[in-house]
Amino acid sequence: MPRVFVARRIPAAGLDRIAAAADVDVWPDRLPPSPDQLRERVRGCDGLVSLLTDRVDAALLDAAPTLKVVSNFAVGFNNVDVPACTARGVRVGNTPGVLTDATADIAVTLMLAAARRLGESATDAKEGRWLTWEPLGWLGQDLAGKTLGIVGMGRIGFATAKRLHHGWGMKVLYTARSAKPDADRELAARRVELDELLRDSDYVSLHADLNPTTKGLFGADAFGKMKRTAVFVNTSRGPLVDQPALAAALRAGTIFAAGLDVTDPEPLPPDHELYALPNCVIAPHVASATVGTRDAMANRCADNLLAGLCGDPLPYPVNNV
Ligand code: GLV
Ligand code: GLV
Repeated sequence: MPRVFVARRIPAAGLDRIAAAADVDVWPDRLPPSPDQLRERVRGCDGLVSLLTDRVDAALLDAAPTLKVVSNFAVGFNNVDVPACTARGVRVGNTPGVLTDATADIAVTLMLAAARRLGESATDAKEGRWLTWEPLGWLGQDLAGKTLGIVGMGRIGFATAKRLHHGWGMKVLYTARSAKPDADRELAARRVELDELLRDSDYVSLHADLNPTTKGLFGADAFGKMKRTAVFVNTSRGPLVDQPALAAALRAGTIFAAGLDVTDPEPLPPDHELYALPNCVIAPHVASATVGTRDAMANRCADNLLAGLCGDPLPYPVNNV
């Protein structure tokens, strides 16, 4: 039987399929293995199920020369050194498609929560600051008919724009590496340069992947170009945002509010300055956290792993091995 290390408990929908075909070692803890522990456990394995919290780098691969496949339980794969895997003939797969709707739902949730000051007002209610119905209390921003800027019009950006265009009648601007005829046709969306998007959008939602060209994409310069009434949402990866610059923009009123599902680092320590800002709503990286979505991710993860163990191309490949 091939040997597989699964770096955390994942839904049975996928784990049971892997366990039927391989000798499986599942990391039992709630917290991730350390790099040393990961290296130790992967040694001698044919397959690895990694999470976005597990760094798969050259040092790990060198400790596991028998490894054939890395199946990442996520759509993002910035935790994996893909060129290092490719160089060693290790196939890498991810779980695209199945978490698109759940992630778009969280982007819209955060957008509404930030625009309507839900975190702040719910806390005020619970803590005794709901004194009466106030004509000027907790005033937020409308969404209907406003302009939405999607930074990174991939599957998730499109699903987010679709909800807000059809549901709220928002006009859609976007940036992307290539033209997206579907978005132009179905959402009357317009591809623009980032500067124009920042200047003209009432809502800016970040959906780009993390790579060396997107790291720190949103800093003082970007926030400075946005409207003072603008709401910023990030459901991609924390390091795309310069957090001190975001905190300064929220504090100074350079932008109206922010909703984040991802931060840098994760977890964001409870004493972090962003939590103290009433106009910042932070969720603990839960975009794909529904029962159905995590089951579907586990299935896709098993599809990749089992193909890789057989030496077959992966159904959802990240590299070309
Ligand atoms: C979650 O962030 C993922 O990339 O699947
Ligand atoms: C608010 O509750 C209203 O009735 O306008």
